[in-house]
Amino acid sequence: MEQHRSHNPNPSHQNRPSAYKREREDNGRNHCENKHSRPNRPQNQSVPSRGQNPDSSLSLSTRRELYERDFPVYKQPVEVGCFSLDSERRFFNDGRQMRYYVEPDRSPNFDLRDGYKDRFIKRDDSVKEKLDHMLRWILANRSKLSARGTTASSCDLDIDFVTWRGHLTKLLTAPYETREGWQLAVTRFRGTLYISEVETEAARRDQENRTERHEEMMYWGYKFEQYTCADTVHGQPDPGGVLNTNEAFCTVVQTRLADHRLLFSGEVDCRDKDPNAPAAPACYIELKTSAEICTPKQRSNFHRFKLLKWWAQSFLPGVPRVVAGFRDEEGVVVAMETFPISKISHLIKNEHNCWKPTVCMNFCSDFLSFVKHIATEDNPSVVYLLSWEPRRDVTFSVHRDSPYCFLPHWFVEEMTSSQPSHQS
Ligand code: A3P
Ligand code: MG
Repeated sequence: MEQHRSHNPNPSHQNRPSAYKREREDNGRNHCENKHSRPNRPQNQSVPSRGQNPDSSLSLSTRRELYERDFPVYKQPVEVGCFSLDSERRFFNDGRQMRYYVEPDRSPNFDLRDGYKDRFIKRDDSVKEKLDHMLRWILANRSKLSARGTTASSCDLDIDFVTWRGHLTKLLTAPYETREGWQLAVTRFRGTLYISEVETEAARRDQENRTERHEEMMYWGYKFEQYTCADTVHGQPDPGGVLNTNEAFCTVVQTRLADHRLLFSGEVDCRDKDPNAPAAPACYIELKTSAEICTPKQRSNFHRFKLLKWWAQSFLPGVPRVVAGFRDEEGVVVAMETFPISKISHLIKNEHNCWKPTVCMNFCSDFLSFVKHIATEDNPSVVYLLSWEPRRDVTFSVHRDSPYCFLPHWFVEEMTSSQPSHQS
């Protein structure tokens, strides 16, 4: 079933490189190796054909008005597997870390500060895991993903893009993002494009300079999860226990955006414990906290900024609802509200000049087309680095055998040397 289908299924709407630009004074300089392309002025729709060296003067605009067309085809995401990370961040090819939502009172008065000092084990976020957990999952489940057609070799994946859901969320929200840029490393390997984030200098500085208050507030969202989730279907939450943010349950979904076949994974907070709940991902619930809304201005900001992020994050994997806890200044949850993802676009209708789901999805689709056009060399040691700053175009540079390489040897070797072991 198609989750959203273009009202006007005119193929010329799909994949049109309408936002590509190219530098006018392209003098044919060598664009391989660490040359950043410059954003450029004239609109130019020509793109290099496959197999040519990519023209690093190409860039992609994030201007909203370029993406206001019909909603692209986005197939209902299908869960093809899941994995878990335990308290020491060890990978398991199963759902052992799944949690079950236990509905609290409407005004539960949860103290989100409780346990921050004495019952908190924080994941070491200086360890960059890149795509490693997803790659482990792919190796363990390769037979589910291998191409059955005649064109690709039987051990190649039947997928155009592999990435984290969080990276796609950043793409969806880029046309509306005014503060934080990003860098995405792309490698083409055996026909599949792998996308992995690279921390920007600004993000690294922000992380180093976080205030104590900010550090503590980051804990509040996890604490809310602990108050509302049980480890077993008939269990109760244990807010007196140790909170360890190494633990995670991740869904792996397959879908298609326009003509891009996607495989991505995202952390899922919990599921509906009703045994009659629909199959995953429709039974999943995203938990969020947010400051309580006391004024019309705060409500407007909530619609314009927070609901955009919440919508993008959950729409991508087909998670149908967000359960939000609204907290006061002291970190006490004073109100609860459920936001069905399908209703969020109606909620924001009255906001002047607000974000639009179609702009988010069309930009993401065009970005992926752009990546397919530039990342032409199939080589695990080549990285195409796509960089973006707010109010600029997306530009790229090419890096060979560099520290940006992110496909580990164990993955490349296993994918190259052996056939998938067939699992039922
Ligand atoms: P809230 O967003 O509810 O405050 P997620 O909601 O994506 O499952 O993330 C769980 C919690 O991790 C967040 O809860 C927040 O506490 C913390 N978190 C996630 N991403 C963050 C980010 N970029 N900056 C700060 N905190 C973050
Ligand atoms: Mg959450």
